[in-house]
Amino acid sequence: MLDNQLSVLLHEIVREKMSVNPWEPLSKRIDQSRLPNLDLDELHFKAVQKTASDHRLVELFPGPVLVLDEEGSVVSANESALAWMGKNFYAVENEFIGDLIYDRRRNNNKNRFLSPIIEVIVKNKEVFLEKSYVTTTLLTNPIPAEISTKVIKEKGKIYFAVVIFNEFSAGSFDREILRMYNEMFSDSPEILTYFAKYIAGLDVYTRGHCMQVAEYAALLGMEMGLDDQGLEMLYTASMLHDIGKLAVSPEILHKNSGLTPEEERELQIHPVVGADILEEFAVFYELAPIVRHHHERYDGTGYPGKLKGDEIPLLSRIITLADAFDVMTSYRPDHEAFTLEQVREKLLFNRGKQFDPQLVEVAVRLMDNGKLTAAKFCAVPDTEKGRRKSG
Ligand SMILES: [Fe+2]
Ligand SMILES: [Fe+2]
Repeated sequence: MLDNQLSVLLHEIVREKMSVNPWEPLSKRIDQSRLPNLDLDELHFKAVQKTASDHRLVELFPGPVLVLDEEGSVVSANESALAWMGKNFYAVENEFIGDLIYDRRRNNNKNRFLSPIIEVIVKNKEVFLEKSYVTTTLLTNPIPAEISTKVIKEKGKIYFAVVIFNEFSAGSFDREILRMYNEMFSDSPEILTYFAKYIAGLDVYTRGHCMQVAEYAALLGMEMGLDDQGLEMLYTASMLHDIGKLAVSPEILHKNSGLTPEEERELQIHPVVGADILEEFAVFYELAPIVRHHHERYDGTGYPGKLKGDEIPLLSRIITLADAFDVMTSYRPDHEAFTLEQVREKLLFNRGKQFDPQLVEVAVRLMDNGKLTAAKFCAVPDTEKGRRKSG
């Protein structure tokens, strides 16, 4: 309970001071204007919930965090607070804060409170980010700092949570907190919601394409006998395989005619950017190589790694085929959707060239028994048909 309320206070400060965007490292790589607005309030709320019973935010907080009881005696203190007081926890536990840092004095010679901390204790008052000078007997110069306190009532007792934030702590603040947010969400399904928003930021064709590729890939994967874990990885990687297209300009993605070599190069960065994005999140880390290599070709002439045969991760090979299947069965700038018979021919022709021969067999078998067929849920609106780029 105590931790819970303290955590809420710390998050408020994070929010107030930094307008923390945990997606910053991610969004730096991509065109911001194409991203949906992430709901930072919602994210913040989730972060508070998640860290309510977690000491890490208290420990990671680069400014001093103290919990005092009604008399002003120390109940808990983080590393930064201990460093500030120059003592270990056993030396400060149950000691009056005024004795520890203010040399037992409460007021200065003008009869003002020496510190807002003392004032808070004496007046039982709550402040949020009040600018003041925090001084201790250990320091010759007072530090301008913002102090926040929260009066916490628990089991009939009153505690004061005191948080000191100064410009010295601001530097490491951003990075540490971002790292923690990132780490927290890496293990949580909430991140999928946020990735879903990134997918939503993709153009309508790419979005529909990703969903269809995931369906086709799952069919192929099941036929290949992948276990549940493998199928889940395959499905998620397929959904995210073109997420790096957020780094490619919409003009190139939507171009009707052929691409110039330069435009071709820009389009070809998407598997690398996609993989780099996924690598930033523990939960997607394993998917990064799968996404990175979804444009390799079985004969070694693909990109970005020119990997060959079994060097290409199996799940990437499956996505390559599912990807091509979707492109072939959809409208293209230069032709109507292929018939299934034409697709069958193309797959067989490219056996061992673009595609893993074993996968071509699996795909053809699935087509022959009617399981693999063109998606009926094509999301591309009529007016947009013919503007879709491959891959
Ligand atoms: Fe792609
Ligand atoms: Fe694709």
